[in-house]
Amino acid sequence: MTPPPSPDASGLEAPSPEDLLVERIRRHGPVGFDALVEAALYAPGTGFFAAGGRAGRGGDFITSPEVGPLFGAVVARALDAWWHALGDPDPFVVVEAGAGRGTLAVAVRAAAPACAPALTYVLVERSPALRARHGEHLPLTVPTQALPPAPADEDDEPAAAADGPRFTSLADLPAGPLTGVVLANELLDNLPLRVLERSAAGGWREVAYTLVDDRPPVVECLVPVDDRLAARADGWAPAAAPGQRIPVLTDALDWLRRAMEVLDRGRVVVVDYGATTAELAARPATGWLRTFRGHERGGLAHEDLGAQDITVDVPVDQLVSVARPDVDDDQATWLRDHGLDALVEDGRRTWAERAHLGDLEAMKARSRVREAEALTDPSGLGAFRVLEWGR
Ligand SMILES: C[S@@+](CC[C@H](N)C(=O)[O-])C[C@H]1O[C@@H](n2cnc3c(N)ncnc32)[C@H](O)[C@@H]1O
Repeated sequence: MTPPPSPDASGLEAPSPEDLLVERIRRHGPVGFDALVEAALYAPGTGFFAAGGRAGRGGDFITSPEVGPLFGAVVARALDAWWHALGDPDPFVVVEAGAGRGTLAVAVRAAAPACAPALTYVLVERSPALRARHGEHLPLTVPTQALPPAPADEDDEPAAAADGPRFTSLADLPAGPLTGVVLANELLDNLPLRVLERSAAGGWREVAYTLVDDRPPVVECLVPVDDRLAARADGWAPAAAPGQRIPVLTDALDWLRRAMEVLDRGRVVVVDYGATTAELAARPATGWLRTFRGHERGGLAHEDLGAQDITVDVPVDQLVSVARPDVDDDQATWLRDHGLDALVEDGRRTWAERAHLGDLEAMKARSRVREAEALTDPSGLGAFRVLEWGR
């Protein structure tokens, strides 16, 4: 079921994702999977995220920051390590892209990292509905005051900002050059991308969407692909059998290039579920291209447009075309490398000391042990990839 249209700023009803796709197909012919995702998730006012679809226990899916504050506490430790490695710069700018409702930022703040006085934390979130929630639990500063002003002249030192941590919220990546970290947890899996299918004749066709008799609903079809793209697909998944499908990253590659350009020094850190293109080809497409709604698996991607999340396992080998990552770990290993075990041990000790009191501190300590299990679960979040590109 498509959600009811919501009025935009002018008071007019915003077109639904389906309306937008129908209009586009009528004018341009079949559209690719990238256009479907763009409309379904981000159509102004009516796309799944644009209308406020979100992570969390009361939301539509659970991410590592939403499991509890432990993930943010480990990220805070990693931020300190990277800050020191950069020579304790002030300001130290952390850009969290795809920040959702701001849960990770809240946990990082609560962990009180050593870099806090130098820290400017920029929450970047495309959805206005989710951006509107950033101020609920964070003291937001206007971007012009939080971000270091560009020096008027190349020889000028940037003006000193007020003591941190400063939090600010933007709709897109800030302009660089900045010194710090660009971090994205489960962003890339939600960015528009194309999908190809191996044809019986051995070539590739693109999954696209069209209309029958010029009327909705949109239906799936296959359209030809150019030789260059087909050759790249052969390179990624040479053994793909007829009918097998692969994701082809588009917006994620642009995002990664732009994220790297934001930094003069620092690192881009991406956390997401992923595998190689060849591994994904070998699975049924419904295994790596999923829809979610209220924590349940949803229908096909082109059904219930705007009412369900559409997400894909990220083909990590394709990211290498932008730059080879310096770090490629599973999340469990990465969390342990950044101090997870010590935090859990603290939790265990506190629980042992305070269990009989049953107070908030005891409950938080017990919850930390459970959070660690979820975050390192090898059949779940623990198997996510953490990729880092140093600058
Ligand atoms: C799966 S959610 C992850 C939210 C959060 N990072 C977490 O782990 O709970 C992906 C978020 O990225 C946002 N998003 C999508 N494209 C974006 C872009 N180009 N820039 C910033 N945010 C974007 C979506 O609106 C959505 O809130």
